[in-house]
Amino acid sequence: DKGNHRHFMVKEIHEQPEVTGRTLAHYLDLAEGRARPPEGIDFSRIDRLSITACGTAFYAGFVAKYWFERFARLPVDIDIASEFRYREQPLSKDGLAIVISQSGETADTLASLRYARVEGQRIAAVVNVRESTIAREADVVLPILAGPEIGVASTKAFTAQLAVLAATAIAAGRARGSIDDVEEARLVAAFSEVPRLMHEALRLEGQIEALARDLAKVKHCLYLGRGTSYPIALEGALKLKEISYIHAEGYAAGELKHGPIALIDEEMPVVVIAPFDRVFEKTVSNMQEVAARGGRIILVTDRKGAEAAAIDAAATIILPEMPASVTPLVYSIPVQLLAYHTAVFMGTDVDQPRNLAKSVTVE
Ligand code: M6R
Repeated sequence: DKGNHRHFMVKEIHEQPEVTGRTLAHYLDLAEGRARPPEGIDFSRIDRLSITACGTAFYAGFVAKYWFERFARLPVDIDIASEFRYREQPLSKDGLAIVISQSGETADTLASLRYARVEGQRIAAVVNVRESTIAREADVVLPILAGPEIGVASTKAFTAQLAVLAATAIAAGRARGSIDDVEEARLVAAFSEVPRLMHEALRLEGQIEALARDLAKVKHCLYLGRGTSYPIALEGALKLKEISYIHAEGYAAGELKHGPIALIDEEMPVVVIAPFDRVFEKTVSNMQEVAARGGRIILVTDRKGAEAAAIDAAATIILPEMPASVTPLVYSIPVQLLAYHTAVFMGTDVDQPRNLAKSVTVE
């Protein structure tokens, strides 16, 4: 039931504060300021993490790589499942494989799980559908508790995956001694603000819808980001292409001058995901290169970032200020809304985009 929403996708976008709040409350003890250690995984004995998934779930894993490295000082490999399963990389005997799948039925992700098992890895599955094959075959199941996701374009499952992975990375940090009580409590407090921050992000929908009217006229669009905003740029580009059929590319901001800058002219919209964090200044200098060539910048940032950017952006979407660790969850919302409203203006079948299936059970 779509309620009073026009599509399941937008309904699911709006469910995110509630869903994320519930998922975070399951994995974090908000009152005590602790991350609940996941049963069945002893992070103090794990020396390497391999994260494997497809599509949007892969981008959730990509964000998690930054978190596990930063919070838990754990080396992390991430791989697209269709590559992991054939790549023959050496895996550590004390390695943990984390597979991420909303449906729990994606063929390549399941094959990766089986491959990792043969290679002696312990396996944790981050899934939405608990009765799925991937959940059944894993050693440890970390449910994302997002409820059924109907829109083919994944939205609430993505942020719920991020919530589980963030909490798990904090717990791993504690188990490995790389974060102390104080730091743990600070991180937990930061994540407990996410539902409120998401609500505030959703209030920008009117502004984003107005921008989407122009975006619906373009043929190509670039998304840039650095650090954890890089996977969010990739996810933004995927969302836009899969439901609006506009060609979109996500790039690490620092890669711009290694090729994609050749694409920039007055016609090219460039969505820059840039919270005012420790890499902000670097992203700004990349943005200036775009501005100097006439590119139309849509800057997604916060008040401090908007002031510091000193750039003639075509549009600036201003989110509340927040700790850097939580930005991926909140900055997902404007990129989802931008893709959604662009698709609505294009008149595509938003919930059932052409050529796509909700669950990809063949290789
Ligand atoms: O069910 P899964 O999470 O394993 O699905 C993975 C991808 O097929 C999925 O995320 C796909 O990329 C979505 N259409 C993204 O919106």
